[in-house]
Amino acid sequence: MPKKVFLSLKYPQLAIDMLEKAGFNITINKSNNPIPQDELINICKEHDALLSTGSNKIDTYFLEQCQHLDIISQFAVGYDNIDVQAAKKNGIVIGNAPGAMTEATADVAFGLMIMVSRKMVHMHKTIQKGLWNHFVPTANLGFELDGKTLGVFGLGTIGRVMAKRCKAAYGMNIIYHNRSKNQEAEEKLGAQYVSFDELLSQSDIISVHCNLTEETKGVFNKEAFNRMKNSAIFINTSRGGVHNEIDLIEALKNGSIWGAGLDVTDPEPMQPDNPLLQMENVAVLPHIGSSTVEARNEMARMSAQNIIDFYKTGTIPYPVH
Ligand code: 8YV
Repeated sequence: MPKKVFLSLKYPQLAIDMLEKAGFNITINKSNNPIPQDELINICKEHDALLSTGSNKIDTYFLEQCQHLDIISQFAVGYDNIDVQAAKKNGIVIGNAPGAMTEATADVAFGLMIMVSRKMVHMHKTIQKGLWNHFVPTANLGFELDGKTLGVFGLGTIGRVMAKRCKAAYGMNIIYHNRSKNQEAEEKLGAQYVSFDELLSQSDIISVHCNLTEETKGVFNKEAFNRMKNSAIFINTSRGGVHNEIDLIEALKNGSIWGAGLDVTDPEPMQPDNPLLQMENVAVLPHIGSSTVEARNEMARMSAQNIIDFYKTGTIPYPVH
C-alpha cells in the first residue's frame, strides 16, 4: 500500500511531482487558506505523513491525536509552530528546509531598511491621496545608510547575508548579538560580537534574524526600545513574537526609535486598523520573506525529499533536532 501524504497547502508543483513520482498517495488542501486545527487532525488521521507550514499549529493536542504520523516535514526553515519535543516523544520525525530562503529573506530585510530610511511606503501613499509634495526643502527627509552601524540580532545564515549586503552596499559597520560567536562573519565582514545592551545602544539599524524561542520571545520590548537610539530603525523578518508590538507602536509614537520595517507581525495577519500602517516611518509586509520562485522551489524540494528519504532509508536529509 502506498503511504498517504497530506499537503496542508498547495505547495509548488515540484513537491507534488517529486512525491507522486516516488509513488506516494497524496491529498492537497487546495483552498489557499490554512486548515483549522481540528479539521487538520481529522484529515491527518487518514494519512501517514504531513507536509506542513508555519500556519499549522502542531502542539501537544495535535500530536496526541496524531501519534500515528511517521513524519512531519515543514515547508519552512522556522518550526516554532511545532512542539518538537512532544513529536519526538511520540516517535514522529520532524524535518524542515534550512537555507532555502536565505537570500530571499535577507533581500526583504535589506529592502525594508531602505524603504523605511527614505519613508518610501508613506511617500507612495501620499501620491495615491493626490499629494505630490516632492520638493518641500525640509519635508519628508529620510537619512542615508552609508557608514551606519548595523546590529544583527541572531547572526545565523540569514543574518550573515543581510550583514554582507549592508557591508557591500554601504560599508556599514557590523555588530551582532547571538547565542554563540560567528567566526566566519567576524573574519569576512569584520563583525563584532557585542552584548544585547551594546547592540541596542550602538546600532543605527537593528535587524532581527533569530528563531522564536522562549528565550527570544518579546525581547524587543519597551525597555529595549528605550535603550535604542532615537534615530534607530528596527527591522524584523524572523518572527513577530520576538518584538512586543504594543511596545513597538508606543516607541514609534513617543520617538524612542525613528522607524520600523516588519515582514512579520504579532499576530499574523495584522489587522488593517493597526496604527503601524498609518505611520510615516514604517513599512509592513505580509510575511513575504521566502516569496521568490527560487526559494519556494527549494523549500518544496527539501520538504518533499525529507518524506521520500524517510520511507526509503529511514533517515532524512534535513532533520530538526
Ligand atoms: C514561510 C518562513 O513562508 O521558512 C520560514 O520559516 O517564515 C517562511 O519561509 C512561512 O513560515 C510559511 O511556512
